[in-house]
Amino acid sequence: MEIRSCCTPGSPTSDRSQGQAEAAPVPQEQIGALYDSLAPAYDVWAFATESKARKRALELARIQDGEAILEVAVGTGLMFEQVLRRNPHGKNMGIDLSEGMLAKAKERASKHAKVDYELSLGSALDLPFQSESIDLLINTYMFDLLSAEDTAEALGEFARVLRPGGRIVLVNMARGRTPMSRLYEHISRWSPRTLGGCRGVEVARKLPHHGFAVDETEYHQQCLFPSEIVTARKPE
Ligand SMILES: C[S@@+](CC[C@H](N)C(=O)[O-])C[C@H]1O[C@@H](n2cnc3c(N)ncnc32)[C@H](O)[C@@H]1O
Repeated sequence: MEIRSCCTPGSPTSDRSQGQAEAAPVPQEQIGALYDSLAPAYDVWAFATESKARKRALELARIQDGEAILEVAVGTGLMFEQVLRRNPHGKNMGIDLSEGMLAKAKERASKHAKVDYELSLGSALDLPFQSESIDLLINTYMFDLLSAEDTAEALGEFARVLRPGGRIVLVNMARGRTPMSRLYEHISRWSPRTLGGCRGVEVARKLPHHGFAVDETEYHQQCLFPSEIVTARKPE
């Protein structure tokens, strides 16, 4: 199931009035350890519920070989490996908070030894990259783990490292649009760790407050799991 829309974000409404929790379901300080424990089985979940949205996000990224591409929260490297395939003459960087997830990403990326890439531990809240140095920033299923405060901080960092005219592609757990897809919302409330600390979020409407122009949003459901893809640009 896919719904596309050209996005004109509305007035800034508080997260609470949107029904979206301000606080993170799992505190950031515990995310590294949580994902270290989830790393061995993560790809099974990712294949069953997120693979279609991830594939579509890759198409929407419209990678041109030779770009400087940063993936924040690379996880096990499912997306990063596809980026390496499409950007063999560019510069490819990835960071994540979890050593366990990063180890998997390094294993995947090692098949592309001739490509210029670097994978390191790091946080979206304090990106270890120069301002205006990135052409394309990809980030999948991370904002759905963050508090409203950390979301604002990470978006500020994304805006800082992106060059004028640079693009971002975000994918996140969305708020379900069908009764059955809302099941995941209930699970995230009852047992946040079962869903790796994620819950449905709406990031698109926050982007203009950080200077981004939103191009498109798409809603996807896979095994009832609701995802939203957002593409946006930092104006020239
Ligand atoms: C649900 S997984 C998604 C992984 C990958 N992006 C994917 O789509 O397969 C969430 C990832 O975000 C990472 N993460 C959470 N908060 C982060 C932060 N502040 N900075 C960098 N990575 C973070 C976690 O360690 C974990 O690997």
